[in-house]
Amino acid sequence: MNLLKATSLSHAFEYPLFEEISLELNAQESMAIIGVSGSGKSTLMHILSSMLVPNEGSVELFGHNIYQLNEKELVRLRRHELGLIYQSHYLFKGFSGYENLEVAALMADQTIDENLLIRLGIDKVCHQKVTELSGGQQQRVSIARVLSKKPKLIFADEPTGNLDHTTAQEVMTIFFDYLKEEDAGMILVTHDEALALQCDFIYRMHDGVLTKVK
Ligand SMILES: Nc1ncnc2c1ncn2[C@@H]1O[C@H](COP(=O)(O)OP(=O)(O)O)[C@@H](O)[C@H]1O
Ligand SMILES: [Mg+2]
Repeated sequence: MNLLKATSLSHAFEYPLFEEISLELNAQESMAIIGVSGSGKSTLMHILSSMLVPNEGSVELFGHNIYQLNEKELVRLRRHELGLIYQSHYLFKGFSGYENLEVAALMADQTIDENLLIRLGIDKVCHQKVTELSGGQQQRVSIARVLSKKPKLIFADEPTGNLDHTTAQEVMTIFFDYLKEEDAGMILVTHDEALALQCDFIYRMHDGVLTKVK
């Protein structure tokens, strides 16, 4: 099943960032996007995940051109089908980790997967306030929060950036298992070549061009 189809995406801020980017992703597939800082990886992720409208080109998610959906359909799509894990965590700071998970599960009509919390090693600490958790623990709570929604398509921008290598590998294994179990897909931005190599495809962003390298 086709999850995502991007056609001829071009975008510029003060200067042209990238041009004519096309890519596709099917269920159970993972794609890594690599490239130096400032090359436009996060901007591309924002466009693919419906958060930013490109200057040119189109994005289809689950067979629908997202620029033809009305606001209500777009909100439903983002809430139920897309899982966004970005560099900054966007957890509610006044709440415990667990309360953050409850809110996300409630919004998506899902239940919290206690097993997932154990696998992420946050089943005990997630009852503490977010502000009391380390950066790596907060990152794992935000990963649990996104997976609790049971999204069909995950956009992960450096999701393991705050984690040591062993924990990063464990988290990636959880993602790959999730893709199989839920028939989902993932686009991953990473600086870690070893993690990128575990994805089905690798694309490199360089000088405004996205090139397939695996
Ligand atoms: N909202 C924005 N307004 C203006 N410039 C932006 C905006 N977002 C990103 N940029 C610029 O676009 C370039 C690419 O940024 P980004 O997509 O975050 O790259 P990467 O994720 O590869 O590091 C940078 O030069 C950045 O300053
Ligand atoms: Mg970035």
